[in-house]
Amino acid sequence: MREDTREAVERVDEARLWRRHEEMAQIGAIPGNGVNRAAFSGEDIRARRLLLSWAQARQFEVTMDAIGNLFVRRPGLDAGAAPVLSGSHMDSQPRGGRFDGIYGVLAALEALEAIDDAGLKTRRPIELVAWSNEEGGRFGPCTMGSAVHTRARSIDDFADVTDNDGIVLKDALAATLEATPEAGTRELNTPAAGYIEAHIEQGPLLEMQGKTVGVVTGIQGLRWFNVEVFGETAHAGTTPLRVRRDAVRSAISIINALHELTADPDDVLRFTVGRMLVTPNSTNSVASHVLFSVDIRHPDPATIRRLGEAVEPLARKAATPCEVKVTATLHDDPCVFDAGVVDTIQHAADELGVASLRLPSGASHDAMYMSRVCPTGMIFVPYEKGVSHNEAENATPQDLAAGARVLTAALLALANR
Ligand code: GLV
Ligand code: MN
Ligand code: MN
Repeated sequence: MREDTREAVERVDEARLWRRHEEMAQIGAIPGNGVNRAAFSGEDIRARRLLLSWAQARQFEVTMDAIGNLFVRRPGLDAGAAPVLSGSHMDSQPRGGRFDGIYGVLAALEALEAIDDAGLKTRRPIELVAWSNEEGGRFGPCTMGSAVHTRARSIDDFADVTDNDGIVLKDALAATLEATPEAGTRELNTPAAGYIEAHIEQGPLLEMQGKTVGVVTGIQGLRWFNVEVFGETAHAGTTPLRVRRDAVRSAISIINALHELTADPDDVLRFTVGRMLVTPNSTNSVASHVLFSVDIRHPDPATIRRLGEAVEPLARKAATPCEVKVTATLHDDPCVFDAGVVDTIQHAADELGVASLRLPSGASHDAMYMSRVCPTGMIFVPYEKGVSHNEAENATPQDLAAGARVLTAALLALANR
């Protein structure tokens, strides 16, 4: 390892990194040690402002694109060279933990500060990116910020999406954009020389195998649908069952059929209905309308395609006597990360003597969209018992810092190419 790289790695400050997690965890804190920091909410805005204050204290330039992705830049010697990027997201699930997403943002900030504290000059600029609305828990689908930034999707595709309270995305986004007037304007899809995202593993393998860092090889495929079932509201006490068009009953039939479609004896396939809105949502009225979500994941692109194509015909058949409308909201094929970036991360871990494991990601990440536009990789760190999308998410300061050291070394390698 180069002497200057080692100097920067030694400046990674475990206590500072942990303190920042604690500070961020106060924004949207919920009982049980978790956070609820929905995308484009007041809590999201407070997290953005806190990140901005840390960037400004270092005189790092901050820019923001049309979907609210925030970029924090440490300049390079070659101002015209495309930057190397690192980051993740600051939004959370409604009952989320204090590490999902924010770790990758704070690890990237720690890398920038450690490199700065060591007084290093890099050929390329290094930029932290905090992606907007990665979770999709309030406004679906997930990984929206990176999808829009890389032009895989248009912002117009999502402008009219509503949350469970009927708030429209474009209004919440406008308020979020207005809240950080200090940020300069950033175009969409600006060139990037590479991207590395650090994240908690969200699975149990690193902990089970006693490893400190995961060198991630890729991300499994993902499809999302909204299924709307249209029935007719009626009196629960008087309307005979045989004449009802009960949207809840039909929704249950569809979900049961989807469970049969996705049954997998090997337990590789993932199928989830996690969101359901019932109208009028009254104990003694038959439901006239149900909206529910479908999330299907698998590492094989052919399987994910076949299953995705089966959803609508199956829903139609099972919906009788109700009507059904199926809207596909996300189709991400599995991605394989760049071999060069994966090797750079592996090399950094080996040289630092950090025990590592190669593994694929079951969760989706903004790295998936970035992998389409530049060489990309990810670093995982372990956390307790594989519990995620849950308030109880827990990680140790030591492991978070070890991941940030590997990240720092890998970013320096890419930034000096
Ligand atoms: C991201 O949180 C995902 O759903 O995988
Ligand atoms: Mn995440
Ligand atoms: Mn998540």
